Amino acid sequence: METLKYSIIVHEHSDLSELTKTETSLVDKAKEAAEKSYSPYSNFKVGASVLLDNDEIICGNNQENSAYPSGLCAERVVIFYANAHFPDSHIVAMAVVAKSNNKFTSEPVYPCGSCRQVMNETEVRFKAPIKLILAGDSKIHILDNVSQLLPHGFDKRLLDKK
Ligand code: THU
Repeated sequence: METLKYSIIVHEHSDLSELTKTETSLVDKAKEAAEKSYSPYSNFKVGASVLLDNDEIICGNNQENSAYPSGLCAERVVIFYANAHFPDSHIVAMAVVAKSNNKFTSEPVYPCGSCRQVMNETEVRFKAPIKLILAGDSKIHILDNVSQLLPHGFDKRLLDKK
């Protein structure tokens, strides 16, 4: 028997001033988007922004529903919008923030499992890594790609017959 061990690489920053201009602007846009979240049931406002390879920046937020499972996370709202409107452009970077009790979280908020699956699909589809910026007020985590958040993830390559 062999025991396999996996690790992920996270670049941790303690202040937004350590980020590049583009990264900071993505975080700012995600914060603006969080304010527009429709989340009357959880009161947990999530904002996400993506930078496309055509330089477009698109934002989204979580959209809840009285039939709870019908809602959608901010990450999937923005990815699906980007892919619906710009099917030929890949996502270069994505920022995510969350506001709870009217305050942006101090710790980074990591995407849920379903969002990781969709993010992974997008990386595989466009064969391009998505830089992920998870920004809390006192800690910012930057990952060079999203696939490391889904070890042994299921993707379309596994559907190939040959
Ligand atoms: N949510 C997101 O939008 N993104 C995440 O990564 C985690 C959770 C939303 C879903 C729901 O509207 C609220 O946050 C509470 O779970």
